[in-house]
Amino acid sequence: MGIVERIREKARADVKRIVLPEGDEPRTLQAAAILGRENLARPVLLGAADRIRAAATAAGADIGGIEIIDPAASPRRADYAARLYELRRAKGVTEADAARLALDPMYFGIMMVKLGEADGLVSGAVHSTGDMLRPALQIIKTKPGISAVSSSFLMECPDRSLGDDGLLVFADCVVMVCPDAEQLAGIAVAAAETARTLCGIQEPRVALLSFSTKGSAKADVVTKVQEAAAIAHRLAPDLILDGELQLDAAIVPEVAALKAKDSPVAGRANVLIFPDLQAGNIGYKLVQRFGKAKAFAVLQGLAKPCNDLSRGCSVDDIVSTVCMTAVQAQ
Ligand SMILES: CC(C)(COP(=O)(O)OP(=O)(O)OC[C@H]1O[C@@H](n2cnc3c(N)ncnc32)[C@H](O)[C@@H]1OP(=O)(O)O)[C@@H](O)C(=O)NCCC(=O)NCCS
Repeated sequence: MGIVERIREKARADVKRIVLPEGDEPRTLQAAAILGRENLARPVLLGAADRIRAAATAAGADIGGIEIIDPAASPRRADYAARLYELRRAKGVTEADAARLALDPMYFGIMMVKLGEADGLVSGAVHSTGDMLRPALQIIKTKPGISAVSSSFLMECPDRSLGDDGLLVFADCVVMVCPDAEQLAGIAVAAAETARTLCGIQEPRVALLSFSTKGSAKADVVTKVQEAAAIAHRLAPDLILDGELQLDAAIVPEVAALKAKDSPVAGRANVLIFPDLQAGNIGYKLVQRFGKAKAFAVLQGLAKPCNDLSRGCSVDDIVSTVCMTAVQAQ
């Protein structure tokens, strides 16, 4: 069974209420219909009910039985506005701003999750990553003890000799543009946790990647990765982690034997940590496009799960992302 099927099974075992702020978006409506029909989640669509129903009819999505909440007509709106004001007034948000934000489906949905009235949120078929991330970071905030939100990609590769039977976790490919050593260490620890809890990888083996292996090259950006590895060791002493490693030393046993023969990770890494967002974002797309891997993104470190879609996502991608969000909420 592939990772997506496993995650769908887990979602079905403990059904969660997931809010979809882009309630009249055609792929979202088709995904909501599938999620409800297959009992994978209890989706909540946000927006004006008549517009949502008209859009569902046009998209051929049967959304009978799916909950719709119109922020403009909701009895919860005033409370959300009051709480938004309390949460953000120190940042210059006025009562009038808060009242306006509570009408915005993205903020309305984030408040539902914040207050435990939904278990998670999925958005991004229309909005940009930043549009969805900013309110989540501002309002839901990080889990206790976590300093920054980041992301992991679940990469399912056709070559089953890689990672854990073809499954690897890549981080961070979405959020932290230029993490410092401490932030990079946090990303490594969080990605290992995602590998364990979401992917069912029993033994995460984490490689902090660079263009250098164990001091073969010298540069400030290499030093950053070495420092991150040292910090991650202190943060999670039991985690199997090593760096800095080149990509081939991390995943190819023959290269590992030549370049890093004493490493506990080299040659068999299943969690790959990129030094910054440019490397991470390019790296996952290379593997996806050239290596024909399937790629699924999740955010990690938020106090409650919220996940972003690519604007080019398919209906199936939305269903999978909702299921991953539901599993994170379990
Ligand atoms: C994440 C991101 C949206 C933050 O946006 P921003 O405009 O820089 O936001 P700010 O720096 O004003 O931060 C907004 C809030 O989020 C918090 N924040 C920002 N990054 C954070 C992180 N990684 N973890 C936790 N909180 C974070 C800030 O502390 C701030 O909180 P506050 O308002 O309560 O003080 C931005 O880093 C970003 O655009 N990242 C890249 C996303 C992207 O385009 N990816 C493309 C790949 S698909």
